[in-house]
Amino acid sequence: MSVILKVRGTRDLLPPETDLWNRVEHTARSLFTRYGFGEVRTPIFEDTQLFARGVGEETDIVSKEMYTWEDRARVDSERAQSLTLRPENTAGVVRAYIEHKLNDSGMLQKMFYIGPQFRRERPQRGRYRQFWQIGAEVLGPAWSGAESPLRDAELLEMLATLLNELGVRGWRLELNSIGSATDRPRYIAALRDALAPIKDRLCEDNRRRAETNPLRVLDSKAPEDQALINTLPRIADFLDEESTGHFRQVLASLDACGVPYHVNSRLVRGLDYYTRTTFEFTVPDGSGLGTQNALLGGGRYDGLSEILGGPKAPGIGFAIGEDRLILTLQAQAERDEVATERKLDAFIAPMGIAQNAAALALARELRAAGLSIELGDGMFRLRKSFETADKLARRMVIVGEDEVASDIFTVKYFAAGEQSKVPRAGLPDALRT
Ligand code: HAM
Repeated sequence: MSVILKVRGTRDLLPPETDLWNRVEHTARSLFTRYGFGEVRTPIFEDTQLFARGVGEETDIVSKEMYTWEDRARVDSERAQSLTLRPENTAGVVRAYIEHKLNDSGMLQKMFYIGPQFRRERPQRGRYRQFWQIGAEVLGPAWSGAESPLRDAELLEMLATLLNELGVRGWRLELNSIGSATDRPRYIAALRDALAPIKDRLCEDNRRRAETNPLRVLDSKAPEDQALINTLPRIADFLDEESTGHFRQVLASLDACGVPYHVNSRLVRGLDYYTRTTFEFTVPDGSGLGTQNALLGGGRYDGLSEILGGPKAPGIGFAIGEDRLILTLQAQAERDEVATERKLDAFIAPMGIAQNAAALALARELRAAGLSIELGDGMFRLRKSFETADKLARRMVIVGEDEVASDIFTVKYFAAGEQSKVPRAGLPDALRT
């Protein structure tokens, strides 16, 4: 019989690697709580129109990468509907914001999410068809202060803190302002004018982008086109006073709290909803991501709620590629020769089958005391117990005939290469990290 394999571009996350995923998610959740965010969970599939309108028909995501299907009506009262696996979560969060009338509270809404997204991209290291994002969105009516540059700076400061707490080293924040809905058309017109005479000298991909979505030419990585792209007009010269002032205040607030950044006038991002501040955090070469060096991306989307038929509700958010974050942590840990896997507190080794039941009772007690315990089996030879224990745990508790009779146990500490006798009541303390 042929073996059924996972679908191209998807991944199985297995233990012990999932331990690192859980630690990352735990750190993110507790940090988001400190910054006043609450969790939002939106459906994994939505009406296709949500992404077509929200993310934009001309974007790569919507035009080529979505998993879309026609969902048949099951009963007469239903209609057939085009559905799509979410390629990102911002549109879904803003839809939920509108649907649940969160604007009416007048308060700033701060929501985070952790979950899978789906894009039919060409799979490679750091790029998958199902991938995880850890993201957050801050939005609200204008009077809630949602439009304030302080919100942009606070979000970026939070991200810098998160990456530092996770132990990501060498990250680089690149940011730009792509202007308001009124600045951008002027800039795009200028870009089209500048592209028209040089278009034919660009690669095929950029020639197409010059026609369909000229902004995208700016973040092209095609080496042969870089010299020409650098001659194109810069968006900073087309921003109106308000957008310029907004950006200046974002930078001043970042300076005030000591978050380093680099202004990159070519950073435009691949989703149509962005206005004003856009940003990415990248990691240096050799951080396990190959060419996919964007760890996270985000920006402001002051018009998205209205595009989706909702009230005016400016907002800003980001999404971290969790797969990429994990690859980075693993690569950096490997380079520094530090373990990303945590060992259990103890391995309990019964010396014979006769001690199995007593060993189980002891394991139960220690687990109830909050320790992480693996239980061996008296049918293993001592050497096998020893090797397994050394692989899985920091310590081994020997449960032999004498130990069961005296309630005093031999504990081996692997790192120190020592052993000692510990009475039963003292075991939880002796085994705690
Ligand atoms: P995005 O730049 O499309 O933005 O994705 C954010 C991050 O998700 C990327 O920086 C990358 O780390 C990760 N990512 C994207 N595609 C893949 C993939 N195929 N495989 C692995 N990782 C991937 C957004 O999704 C916006 N919703 C972010 C946002 C939130 N903007 C405002 N609020």
